[in-house]
Amino acid sequence: MGQLRKNFLWGGAVAAHQLEGAWQADGKGVSVSDVMTAGDVDHQRGITDGVLPGYNYPNHEGIDFYHRYAADIKLFAEMGFKSFRTSIAWTRIFPNGDETEPNEAGLQFYDDLFDECLKYDIQPVVTLSHFEMPYHLVTEYGGWRNRQVIGFFTHFAETVFKRYQHKVKYWMTFNEINNQANYHSQFSLFTNSGLKITADENPEKVMYQAAHYELVASAQAVKIGKQINPDFEIGCMIAMCPIYPLTAKPEDVLKAERAMQTRYWFADVHCHGRYPEWLLQYQTNQNYNLDITDADLADLAAGTVDYIGFSYYMSFATKDNGAAELHYDEEHDLVPNPYVEASEWGWQIDPVGLRYAMNWFNDHYHLPEFIVENGFGAVDQVEADGSIHDSYRVDYLRKHLVQMKKAVIEDGVDLMGYTPWGCIDLVSAGTGQMSKRYGFIYVDKQDDGSGTLARSKKDSFYWYQKVIKTNGQDLTD
Ligand code: BG6
Repeated sequence: MGQLRKNFLWGGAVAAHQLEGAWQADGKGVSVSDVMTAGDVDHQRGITDGVLPGYNYPNHEGIDFYHRYAADIKLFAEMGFKSFRTSIAWTRIFPNGDETEPNEAGLQFYDDLFDECLKYDIQPVVTLSHFEMPYHLVTEYGGWRNRQVIGFFTHFAETVFKRYQHKVKYWMTFNEINNQANYHSQFSLFTNSGLKITADENPEKVMYQAAHYELVASAQAVKIGKQINPDFEIGCMIAMCPIYPLTAKPEDVLKAERAMQTRYWFADVHCHGRYPEWLLQYQTNQNYNLDITDADLADLAAGTVDYIGFSYYMSFATKDNGAAELHYDEEHDLVPNPYVEASEWGWQIDPVGLRYAMNWFNDHYHLPEFIVENGFGAVDQVEADGSIHDSYRVDYLRKHLVQMKKAVIEDGVDLMGYTPWGCIDLVSAGTGQMSKRYGFIYVDKQDDGSGTLARSKKDSFYWYQKVIKTNGQDLTD
């Protein structure tokens, strides 16, 4: 009977821009997340032209992890974390993104942060680019639509690989690189790739070009990383939302297949080192004439990843819309799944989908997997005595862990670890809210920016502590 690895990487996940704050400290530059205002469940976050007076930019303060990380990591250690996934804010190292020399104060911050983790035997798991590219690269270069950005990124990657080669073993290149498959989403194009689409541009074509440059940059980074330290394990990071056919009608099934291809071809390139045939044919039929060189194709083939990091929160469903052409457009082609419930934010809750996803990845790529995000965004109630009874969060996580274990123990998936999202409350990427909380640790900060920033343990803190202690055997309250 299979079981979870003995050295299973239980932990938690965050991203620099969502919790560090200190947006101008010690020479940090402005990132794309610094120009995003607060939204809510009904209103998208705004993207302003630079940082303007009179707006609420929630990432500027985050939860002030920059100054409080030692106490927070102590709490992670108390839960028994073996790993801690965070990102390196590119703008702390290269404030504008196109400098030759790095900012020493930024490098020192991550030295101190990783040392603090290692003090408790917590392995840092580091994402190089998590929705926080330098804003200067957007205004001066047009974001990832510009080939020059490949060189800026690999320079950044090489700098941090060298600096932290003895402190960090696990890396990922681009967070949820495939969100931009939804090329109508201004949010995804901007956060993934620093793209602002102009009136005369075809957003799908621009997305394919930008994603190509990112995939080349990722492949080059893998190669560089391995030269610096052959023991590095460098993964991709895919946002996995399985897309089911709404019915068994053949046209619905075919539509769902195209939907999966459209959302996950990024993983084909990361893992197989080449483009899938359907996509090459589609791009040819669209006359996109993308800038893809033979040297790029050689890079892609040479820089495949060691493991698949992925997030899993929800599943989707789609159905045939009667169009003559087989095309999936995420903005318009999703339908509600009548068999699952949804969170207050409309995210469909589907634990079985996690087992499906793990099997799907395994069948397609035969690589180790790492669940680097999973979690339940919910409003928490602080009781008069300060306690927080978040049984809904435990319930969500438990159901997902049951399916995760089945995928390993019954289906033979090789799983490296599990780092649930937002192990400490932080700023929501999608809405900019604090009230969409994921943490085991509550942070006293509200959507309007008020609050003491004090930390307190939720019920889920003690539950997860026991889960880790028993290596996932005991999932009870
Ligand atoms: C993933 C991201 O999309 O989901 C995180 O990698 C994000 O950055 C997380 O925070 C949860 O999404 P949200 O919108 O609830 O913060």
